[in-house]
Amino acid sequence: MAFDIDTFVEDCRSANADPDPRAAIRELLLERLRTSRGDIAAALGTDESGLNVIYSGEDLTILNVIWAPKMTIFPHDHRMWATIGIYAGAEDNRLYKRGPERLQHAGERQLDTGDVFGLGAEAIHAVHNPRSRHTGAIHIYGGDFVNQSRSQWDPDTLLEEPYDIEQVQRAFAKANEDWKAQLGHDVDESVV
Ligand SMILES: [Fe+2]
Repeated sequence: MAFDIDTFVEDCRSANADPDPRAAIRELLLERLRTSRGDIAAALGTDESGLNVIYSGEDLTILNVIWAPKMTIFPHDHRMWATIGIYAGAEDNRLYKRGPERLQHAGERQLDTGDVFGLGAEAIHAVHNPRSRHTGAIHIYGGDFVNQSRSQWDPDTLLEEPYDIEQVQRAFAKANEDWKAQLGHDVDESVV
């Protein structure tokens, strides 16, 4: 089934108006990944890693997240529910909970292509792409994620800091540079 971004956004907004928006969004993502994964990858897939905003509103935020090979992003929270759907590659989620002083490890969830994973408003996670190819994921948040103040945690000390979007952008920029440097002597066909 063809994948049209504007239609997808409208479908997500309709699902978000459901009495149980998390369940409705989960069902929508599962169905689209089952029926249209190749078309989603064709529409959204790229080998330029980054957080690309598909839709941003007070009601909902939809991101197309492209993880570079082996890339890791430090622990962070969202302060609203989130649903992740993987349309290409894989995403390892390391889950944490708040401790008296620093974060405590609270589990792992390894997502593969086609998987959908829901995170509650209290969730804290770090994300790693375990593959040697890019991973493409749709991340949907139940609110205005772009403008939400939130936290990140130093990956070594696990101490809390204010979320720093510039640090995140630097991490993606470095991942792109590393990937392009690697391409210089390891040319592969396009990914995602
Ligand atoms: Fe996240």
